[in-house]
Amino acid sequence: MSKTILITGATDGLGLATARALVGQGHRVLVHGRSRAKLDAARQALLEVNSDGAVETFQADFAELEGVDALAAVLAERGGDLDVVINNAGVFRLPGETRNRAGLDLRFFVNMIAPYRLTLSLLPLLPAEGRVINLSSAAQAPVDLKAVSGQVDLDDGQAYAQSKLGLTMWSGWLAGRVGPGGPGILAVNPGSFLKTKMVSEAYGVAGHDIETGVDALIRAALDDTFRQATGQYLDNDKGGFAAPHLDALNLEKCARLVEVLDAILARLETGAGDAGHSIASTG
Ligand SMILES: NC(=O)c1ccc[n+]([C@@H]2O[C@H](COP(=O)([O-])OP(=O)(O)OC[C@H]3O[C@@H](n4cnc5c(N)ncnc54)[C@H](OP(=O)(O)O)[C@@H]3O)[C@@H](O)[C@H]2O)c1
Repeated sequence: MSKTILITGATDGLGLATARALVGQGHRVLVHGRSRAKLDAARQALLEVNSDGAVETFQADFAELEGVDALAAVLAERGGDLDVVINNAGVFRLPGETRNRAGLDLRFFVNMIAPYRLTLSLLPLLPAEGRVINLSSAAQAPVDLKAVSGQVDLDDGQAYAQSKLGLTMWSGWLAGRVGPGGPGILAVNPGSFLKTKMVSEAYGVAGHDIETGVDALIRAALDDTFRQATGQYLDNDKGGFAAPHLDALNLEKCARLVEVLDAILARLETGAGDAGHSIASTG
């Protein structure tokens, strides 16, 4: 049966390749990206895979809260036709500024805080059997809450690895809050060093075949065998479910992180709206 699947950061790499596979299987794909030109190119490429394909594009920059909230608002207006959210957009090495306007490290914001906010906003739209798939990574490091709040500078590798453990932590925590009767929430390491722009920019290596990551994401998103898997960590380097980093099993640490995320979002909300951000969508 055809599903409606939002993929964030679907203008390149794993997101685009996953969109291509899903459109080929006849699913409706909501393609999110930050660049209008790359969204148009992605749409064109997807319709070449399946000329009858259902593809909608949504432009929003996840560097700032306004972009995330604008996307959530457009999807809410669009109605309840949404089955799966794949939180894929991510950054590692940045060409210029590493902080957003609020002074938060962009690795934390794009990789961990934006998907947290988007997920909270979109959960009410998802059916009980819906799913949220969060792109984690083998690169994980204990989260420095002061760095999350912008009080400590980190190098690229630390910022990325901490953001990915943070994402894995809130993923399990939120799955516990939603419970088995609601949409499933899974963290997925799609495999290490897959051949994408991020990997070549971060590590200077070409990387492995991306399709192994695409396959893991599609199974996590759609396969019936994952129906009871909410809160789990799928590690595609190990070929299946695995124990996450110990911090992701520490409820106290997870709750403390979520408190910090909620406090950051509350602080940003009080200043939100002054940027007059809007997003363009095509269907
Ligand atoms: N490749 C791997 O081996 C690997 C391993 C583990 C986890 N992952 C995770 O998989 C996900 C996809 O990574 P990838 O390797 O496919 O990287 P990628 O090719 O660089 O793709 C990243 C996507 O995120 C988008 N993005 C970046 N910053 C954004 C922002 N501020 N607002 C909105 N969208 C933004 C990019 O948009 P543009 O097209 O405009 O740049 C692109 O569509 C990431 O979360 C990454 O951490 C990858």
